[in-house]
Amino acid sequence: MRYPRMAQLRTPQDFQTRLDELDLELGFDAEMQRGPDAPLAQSYTLRDGFRIGNRFCVQPMEGWDGSMDGKPSENTFRRWERFGISGAKLVWGGEATAVRHDGRANPHQLIISEYTLSELEALRQTLVDAHISHFGTADDLLIGLQLTHSGRFSRPTAGGALEPTILYHHPYLDEKYGLPPNYSVISDGEIEMLVADFVRAAKQAYEIGFQFVDLKHCHGYLGHEFLTAYSRSGKYGGSFENRTRFLREIVTGIRTEAPNLRIGVRLSAFDMPPFRPGADMAGEPVELLDERRYWFGAEQANPFSFDLEETVRFLELLDALHIELVNVTAGSPYYCHHIQRPALFPPSDGYQPPEDPLVGVARQIEATARLKAHVPNLLMVGTAYSYLQEWLPNVAQYVVRTGQADFIGLGRMMLSYPEMPVDILTGKTLQRKSICRTFSDCTTAPRNGLVSGCFPLDAYYKESPVAETLKTAKAQMKEKFE
Ligand SMILES: Cc1cc2nc3c(=O)[nH]c(=O)nc-3n(C[C@H](O)[C@H](O)[C@H](O)COP(=O)(O)O)c2cc1C
Repeated sequence: MRYPRMAQLRTPQDFQTRLDELDLELGFDAEMQRGPDAPLAQSYTLRDGFRIGNRFCVQPMEGWDGSMDGKPSENTFRRWERFGISGAKLVWGGEATAVRHDGRANPHQLIISEYTLSELEALRQTLVDAHISHFGTADDLLIGLQLTHSGRFSRPTAGGALEPTILYHHPYLDEKYGLPPNYSVISDGEIEMLVADFVRAAKQAYEIGFQFVDLKHCHGYLGHEFLTAYSRSGKYGGSFENRTRFLREIVTGIRTEAPNLRIGVRLSAFDMPPFRPGADMAGEPVELLDERRYWFGAEQANPFSFDLEETVRFLELLDALHIELVNVTAGSPYYCHHIQRPALFPPSDGYQPPEDPLVGVARQIEATARLKAHVPNLLMVGTAYSYLQEWLPNVAQYVVRTGQADFIGLGRMMLSYPEMPVDILTGKTLQRKSICRTFSDCTTAPRNGLVSGCFPLDAYYKESPVAETLKTAKAQMKEKFE
């Protein structure tokens, strides 16, 4: 293994030494505070007076396990129930939910539509009931639904073939995904119809009890692609104003149709050009084609470094639109997965980590801290904490205590160890056998057409027949890496 495992860093000194070796300025508290005064136990009061009970957030985690017509399955209900027992008081979106069929990222993604509403309502209620049965109240629990259109990563129909909706021809991504130069670009009129779908979906989410909707602008999906539509002509491309028109139109529509619904945005604050497996399968960046801007939040001359100027401008726009809830993430799982979800072991369609995954964790924490410093009155959720493993609580406490982020978002850890937040808050010793070790099976499984879940650590998946199929897929992957 090229990088030391987190579990080997047993003492604060070990952890600090590793951070020093990597030249990373990642703060952490050696001692965890307990009780009601602990930083992570503090509530957060929104501008409208709603009090969120603590500083943990469940990140959206889809399971590729809905029915073909977009309804939740038994697996989906189980996952949301586990979100409920986590003790986290902010549930950001549950999972990506397509506002219509052609925007699904996979044929098993949830859809919000008239015919799925009662199931989505039951899904939310399952989470709430589980939360109340463990913690007595849901009065300080805030739950949103993540609304999405998957844009150039849409795979809506059985078989999962790519059926991209694109805003412009992107030289890197068109090439990577084999889009010909004459592939059609969505028209302004079609975008207006999509805006209407988002507004309709938001209103429906409100009617079935969701307290906010996330207008997803991350990970390469359509909302994110708008932000780099520099080369698109017409009212949705070119200037910053045009590239944010989609968002502003949806917000205007929601404010008319569901004025009491809160709005949030999950944003890839910075992005990078694609990486691919190099000679020893280690990730290496593709060659740069020209100096034009294709990556939101990246330096124009060197897109492997972030430049948050436009990101700050975007957050200032959210503030001006009275959008208080922001979830900061980065990159895309499709073309730079080590940026987005740092892991020691890559997914089957990926490459070996080109950097110690701790570097990826620190990069997202630093970007979030800088953004928080620029636009302090937005509620900011930070992302990419799972790789920290045993050191997650210590970094989390430091980040919240020093105001670098308001909430600690947990993604993969929620699949292996959903009780981690409550264990931290109550001062219990962490259950080491449940700590996510970033094997990436939760990504490899869906990349091979299977449901997601924690196959190494969650007996429900480990002992399921799907685990066998996954084993075969992984064996093939191993051959590829050898
Ligand atoms: C299996 C899986 C499913 C995910 N589903 C979503 C999703 O539906 N929406 C979203 O915005 N991010 C999704 N993500 C990204 C996570 O929310 C999170 O940003 C990422 O895993 C990094 O956080 P972590 O280090 O805590 O895992 C998913 C990630 C994984 C591994």
